Amino acid sequence: MKNIGLGIDTTFDDTSIAILQGKSQILANVTLSQYKDHEEFGGVIPERASRKHMEVINPLIEEALKQAELTFQDLDYIAVSNYPGLLGSILIGVTVAKSLSYALKIPLIGVNHVEAHPYANFLLYDDMSFPMIHLVVAGGHTLLFHASNHFDYEIIGRSVDDAAGECVDKVAKMFGYPMPGGSVVDRCAMESPSDKYEFPRPVLHQNNYNFSFSGLKTAMLRFRQTQPEALQDESRVLSSFFQSIVDVLLHKTFKAAQDLKIDKISVSGGLAASKKLRLSFEEQTQEKGITLFYPPPPLCTDNAAMVACLASYKFEAGLIDDLNLRAFANLS
Ligand code: KG4
Ligand code: ZN
Repeated sequence: MKNIGLGIDTTFDDTSIAILQGKSQILANVTLSQYKDHEEFGGVIPERASRKHMEVINPLIEEALKQAELTFQDLDYIAVSNYPGLLGSILIGVTVAKSLSYALKIPLIGVNHVEAHPYANFLLYDDMSFPMIHLVVAGGHTLLFHASNHFDYEIIGRSVDDAAGECVDKVAKMFGYPMPGGSVVDRCAMESPSDKYEFPRPVLHQNNYNFSFSGLKTAMLRFRQTQPEALQDESRVLSSFFQSIVDVLLHKTFKAAQDLKIDKISVSGGLAASKKLRLSFEEQTQEKGITLFYPPPPLCTDNAAMVACLASYKFEAGLIDDLNLRAFANLS
């Protein structure tokens, strides 16, 4: 057996299919973004997202098999993200995964989408070792994990209201940019100085690892009302705003590493595609003598290769699901 897995991710507005051999050989990783389908509504419409997943999932599976030069008979297991995300969207992926597992008589492996994000790093680096701190900055979740081993981790910090990505997207929307606005804000952060305007750094000095970004979003709303003239200086305003997010993410992650005496940090999730965040982590981990694992942008945003990678470790450990696998919207 070559341990070839097919991964499926339909948790939000991207349909992604990957084929992985062993733990790290990506034979195919195809993603179709629905970004354009929701643009006119200013946000993702759940029913529309489910319909789109349904429309494209089978052709994408065929495309992935074609790229990998394989047939269904070559697959050893099927992996699928079964939470968290939009329930209707996840159900499409889970239903297809169950059908394939049943028809091909191969194991089905359910995967937690946010737990899968750090596996973008496991795909790339063979010197990852435990214990380590994972910072996951996905659109809907900002999480800090203290990982002792695969499947043995504790969530030590989480966003108690808006996640960092969500806050960035909402602020970009206030400035008239289409969702998701992370890349626009990041471009401003790279092009303009970040010290002209002062924005709050929420819960920075609380003695825990939690995050809270809704106050920062409100601060921007107030800033726009009270300092309308500053909006001419949009790039510097957005750069100063993003600096607050970067400072909080770095502070909390390094605090966790220092308190727990851990010298390895992995960063992942869609917001990690930010050049500014990457450079800030690179600079500070170097200064502090910490080893950083950070994936390239296409593996930061949602993709099924990370899902198949986490599943490959589960497959090896015999952590297999059955056709009763359920879909969940929430993380817990
Ligand atoms: O992980 P992800 O693709 O989806 C979820 O699991 O939610 O994360 C989406 C987030 C959004 O907030 C989006 O604005 C952000 O990732 N993002 C970026 C970039 N590309 C996507 N943020 C900064 N720079 C980018 N290039
Ligand atoms: Zn994600």
